[in-house]
Amino acid sequence: MTTYCIANWKMTGSLDMIHEYIPVFLRNYDNLDTAETTVILCPPHPYLGFTVSKCAGYSIAVGAQDVSSATKPANTSEVSAEMLTDLNVSHVIIGHSEYRQNHNPSPDMLAKKLINALALDMTPIFCIGESEADYDAKKTKSVLESQLSILSSVAEHMTDMSRLLIAYEPVWAIGTGKVPSYDEIENICDWIAEHVSSLTNCIAPVLYGGSVKANNAEKIMSLDAVQGVLVGGASLDPESFAEICNAATKSD
Ligand code: PGA
Repeated sequence: MTTYCIANWKMTGSLDMIHEYIPVFLRNYDNLDTAETTVILCPPHPYLGFTVSKCAGYSIAVGAQDVSSATKPANTSEVSAEMLTDLNVSHVIIGHSEYRQNHNPSPDMLAKKLINALALDMTPIFCIGESEADYDAKKTKSVLESQLSILSSVAEHMTDMSRLLIAYEPVWAIGTGKVPSYDEIENICDWIAEHVSSLTNCIAPVLYGGSVKANNAEKIMSLDAVQGVLVGGASLDPESFAEICNAATKSD
């Protein structure tokens, strides 16, 4: 089974940065020719096409950070799944906590984004995670349960949900340097996998995100219930992201 290493560049990047990033990453990344690790770079929308062209010929996939829930063209500012696949963008992050905070999407909108991505054979990376207040109040599972509940309506529309990936990202761990204990990550990711399978009849790989760095990636990816990592800050440095990707095979 492959291990996913996903770089979420958020609102960072430029043509110069990407031009310099790819060769440095390739020089430092050891597993380019193995199928054991799937590397996915998620730049902001304007740089998707350029990133795809820079990664051409290497087994590095490119993902978007959002996709529209709409299907009709009269939706100013929206980007459709058709446009993303036209650019050879194969993956898409849906429901990241920063997106949820900025746009307050309804569960129905998130479900439609997942459906639009799956309908075009894209791989959605569906992000879920509890706030610090919910974590402190021991409400993690009930928050995740409610975020995951849209998957049953997605499953009613889509016969094939086998490409779905789930990223568990506690909001309080994103960009803070705080990480749950390895036991907590293992238990929650295990519970998520079971819960998702009860809603969709599919076994979805569960990834962890939130302050993943070169010094904790190997241990996190060695947990049985964790099939990869979604990396923000540490993915902006090509050497440190390559080190994280190299740790994927050490953790096998
Ligand atoms: P971080 O971000 O690695 O900087 O904590 C992760 C994310 O937001 O996906």
